[in-house]
Formats: sequence, C-alpha cells, structure tokens
Amino acid sequence: MAANCERTFIAIKPDGVQRGLVGEIIKRFEQKGFRLVAMKLVHASEDLLQNSHYIDLKDRPFYPGLVKYMNSGPVVAMVWEGLNVVKTGRVMLGETNPADSKPGTIRCDFLQFKVGRNIIHTASDSVESAQKRRSLWFKPAELVDYKSCAHDWIYE
Ligand code: RTP
Ligand code: MG
Repeated sequence: MAANCERTFIAIKPDGVQRGLVGEIIKRFEQKGFRLVAMKLVHASEDLLQNSHYIDLKDRPFYPGLVKYMNSGPVVAMVWEGLNVVKTGRVMLGETNPADSKPGTIRCDFLQFKVGRNIIHTASDSVESAQKRRSLWFKPAELVDYKSCAHDWIYE
C-alpha cells in the first residue's frame, strides 16, 4: 500500500440494500478514484452488532432500535482504499441526520429525514478505528491486494 493511502470500512445498511442503492453508492466511491479492497453481502449477527460493531453506543437510548435495524436484512460490507479515504468517505456520506446533510452527499441525495434509516455506515473518526472496525467484518485474507490500472492517473 502506498504511504499516503488509508483504508476505511464502509457498510451499506439494510435499507440501502433493499432500496437498490448499492450500485449508486459503489459508483460514487469508484468515481472518486478510491480502490475497492474487499466486499461482501452479509446478514450481520446480533452478536457482531451488539457486542462488537456498535458496542461504543450501547448506553444510547436508540441502541436497541439501531441493532434491530442493522440486523433486519443483509448489509454490503466494504473496504475502500485511497488518499484520506477515512475523512473523505465521511464527507461523501454526509451527517448522521440526513436533514443536516448537504446536497451531493449520499445521506442528502437518497434520504428524506429519518436518522434511524440513514442507509450507510462508516468508521470515520480515525484510521485506527477504521482498522478496528474492518477487522470485525473481514479476515486479513479477504483483503485483496492489486494495483488499480487507474492508480498512476489519479496519484500523479
Ligand atoms: P454510523 O456509525 O452508522 O456511520 O453513523 P454515524 O457515525 O453518523 O452516527 P453514530 O452516532 O455513530 O450513530 C450510529 C447510528 O445510530 C443511528 N442513530 N439513531 N435515533 C437517533 O437519535 C439516532 N442517532 C443515531 C443512526 O443509524 C446512526 O447512523
Ligand atoms: Mg458512527
């Protein structure tokens, strides 16, 4: 991996999958020039969601509803790589509340106002937390190393 490249974990939530937004969301990351490192369709277990993925939010009032929502159908889990992808991925998603998200962001363009149905997740606070989150969903062997043929056209 190039020195200036980070990796982040992104998941399209059950409502994003059911509403047929998978292709649109992947397209945005591809068009931005990020490289897809791993992807799978998975119905996450309550155990993974409750005891690992969203453990930091366990004392929040919306936590039971959040776990139920995330467990209500399959999600598309992905790892994307590129320059500043942790921060930029967050910007591309928009704010937690779709109503606060700016046009051009995923949570603005594909949503109305429901914070509890906001179609996409990212581990966004740091490279370390992205790595921690990613390791809950993917084994090291599932991360695929290859050089994108567009790499040298994107990174000078
Ligand atoms: P995420 O972790 O899913 O990318 O979302 P986020 O960083 O934007 O927001 P976070 O505070 O981590 O909350 C995780 C998810 O919980 C649901 N939520 N519901 N009803 C509520 O007030 C409320 N607040 C948060 C959302 O699905 C949010 O994405
Ligand atoms: Mg979060």
